[in-house]
Amino acid sequence: KQPAVFQRDLLVWYQAHRRQLPWREAPSLYRTVVSEFMLQQTQVKTMLPYFARWMDALPDFAALAAADEATVLKLWEGLGYYSRARNLHKLARALVALPETPPTAAAWQQLPGIGPYSAAAITSIALGVASACVDGNVVRILARLTADSTEFRDSASASKVFTPLAESLLSHENPGDHNQAMMELGATVCHRRNPLCTICPVRAHCAGCAQGEPESFPRLAAK
Ligand code: ADE
Repeated sequence: KQPAVFQRDLLVWYQAHRRQLPWREAPSLYRTVVSEFMLQQTQVKTMLPYFARWMDALPDFAALAAADEATVLKLWEGLGYYSRARNLHKLARALVALPETPPTAAAWQQLPGIGPYSAAAITSIALGVASACVDGNVVRILARLTADSTEFRDSASASKVFTPLAESLLSHENPGDHNQAMMELGATVCHRRNPLCTICPVRAHCAGCAQGEPESFPRLAAK
């Protein structure tokens, strides 16, 4: 099937079913960055109250850059993985020292705490750059779509393998919504166990579903 048909099926579903989340309803670069840092190891439901408190206390990059570390860590308290908070603080200080916002995913990857996934998420959602996000959810969707039975060593190597496919499917008109639609599909429909294929908007594109065993993809080597 054509990428254009896949994109349309995915985006039509996302427009109808997207959860209303604060960084979606009032988007900005800052809100996108803070949400992506909080979501790295924390679920949406858990981080929402922290996100609201954070935005009240530190409403923009300038406020975050000027804050002391104790304030930042206090606001993060309860979310865990404090290196995320320290990196976010460093990132704000790096960004306010730059003459302009880095315009590409490659440039964002040079900044503190930003890997390939975060760089793609931030630049696509906040800046409209056509960069594909590939996290564990997206790997699962793509492995099922293609019924790819490669056994992957770990999730980082699987992400790398699926990046070209993710890029070929990406909507260049609407990369931020496309990427968030893939995340949303992974979070609400294409579950690791018992995926909800009967309500899946891209079921017609899915070889794993057609074969009857979507759960068997992706294959990850036992640790
Ligand atoms: N997980 C990571 N980024 C996300 C986003 N922008 N929306 C929902 N879940 C996410």
